[in-house]
Amino acid sequence: MMGSEKPGAVEVVELLLTTDMYNRLEKLTEDDLPPHIRKHYFDPVTKSVKRPIYVTAEDVVKIYGLENVKTVAKALSFVDVEEFGSQLRLTVFDLGAKWLANQKAKALDMIRCNPVLASFYENYDSLGVSYEEAKRLNKPLCADREWIDAKVKELCTDFKDAKEADELLKLVNIKAPEDVRDQLRGLVMNPDQMAEVKKISKALENREYLRQVGLYEIGKLLFVGPPGTGKTSTARALSNWLCLPLVEVKLSMITSQYLGETSKNIDKAFDLAKRLSPCILFIDEFDFVAKTRTSEDHGALKRAVNTLLKAIDEVSLVEHGVLLISATNHPQLLDYAAWRRFDKVLNFPLPDADMRRMILDKILYKIDADVDTHELAERTEGYSGSDLRLVIREAVLNALVEDRRKIDQDDLLRSIEDFDKRISDYKRSVTA
Ligand SMILES: Nc1ncnc2c1ncn2[C@@H]1O[C@H](COP(=O)(O)OP(=O)(O)O)[C@@H](O)[C@H]1O
Ligand SMILES: [Mg+2]
Repeated sequence: MMGSEKPGAVEVVELLLTTDMYNRLEKLTEDDLPPHIRKHYFDPVTKSVKRPIYVTAEDVVKIYGLENVKTVAKALSFVDVEEFGSQLRLTVFDLGAKWLANQKAKALDMIRCNPVLASFYENYDSLGVSYEEAKRLNKPLCADREWIDAKVKELCTDFKDAKEADELLKLVNIKAPEDVRDQLRGLVMNPDQMAEVKKISKALENREYLRQVGLYEIGKLLFVGPPGTGKTSTARALSNWLCLPLVEVKLSMITSQYLGETSKNIDKAFDLAKRLSPCILFIDEFDFVAKTRTSEDHGALKRAVNTLLKAIDEVSLVEHGVLLISATNHPQLLDYAAWRRFDKVLNFPLPDADMRRMILDKILYKIDADVDTHELAERTEGYSGSDLRLVIREAVLNALVEDRRKIDQDDLLRSIEDFDKRISDYKRSVTA
């Protein structure tokens, strides 16, 4: 019997077992459902997956991109296929569960990252799966684009007029973790940075405990360092890593024509973050705040900045589940009033030779390159991670012009020379 199963049978059974358990067991939540199933049955009005879920052949087609679902389902003795409708039902749960357990590798991989199934199979024979591990591998509801869209839509209906909602959405940029492209594993971090990432993720896990013991001074980070050292990328990658929606405040909008409304909009942006919570609120180019505070011109601008600082005071990771990250290339521009808002300043220095080598290795990872990154790292003192990317990009493009995909040491050394020359030309033009 084993091995002769029709392609798609495992998927049909995953869906039937998962939905059956979800329907029956109140303790299972949307976070326990794997995203492919959850997204399909998600109801944007209630922002939940309503019980009971009825499974149709059409659902299987949409979720897994399979065909001939009815034929596949009919071949399974424990599945009932409605003759005139298209509903699929599990007749005997235990038979289905046993069947899936016998499907070896493919089913096991599936169970391992499906918390609903893992909660059942962890007490079953010796499959060696665990609910905790499946939870770790499975993205929760709030990582889904669908969930965030529904949440934002709901928030916007709170506004009396659509224009207000529109203006708020211009001030912020909201991303679902699944849509964030930056990944921590693509970044080279120094030990301080790694330690901080660990602390933040522990703080998030233990919010309730931190509240109980009254430690609220946590979760407001300021990333400080020269341009191109990975501040923006790290903030975004954290969204992906911690599985938190990312709310980016576009400070440049403060100077826009909506100035009169800005203070109000800032409050609304923070309110939005609190409602999306848990989430990351990311304020990039924070030095903007300092510049406007020292310039004398704009009363309204200053009010907006004061509103922003006050809003920062009033948001908390422990209480609201909002992790605040700001980043600046110009820490010297920030006054004490701005500094003291943050409970942790994380430095992003220019990478040393070791880090430069690791960054080069990471960027070159997928590129066919015959190079000695040790030498390249020695040759690139003072380069940021972003500079290293540029150097490699140039080398790749130059090679492509010569119809080559493979690059070698000379390509990169030439690219570095060009880069150095551009820098010195630039410096000369600035001092001239
Ligand atoms: N430590 C690093 N490891 C890997 N890539 C890096 C690192 N620092 C910078 N980069 C790369 O340089 C680019 C620009 O980085 P970014 O995060 O925008 O810098 P910043 O916000 O500090 O100016 C990104 O594409 C990033 O991948
Ligand atoms: Mg940046």
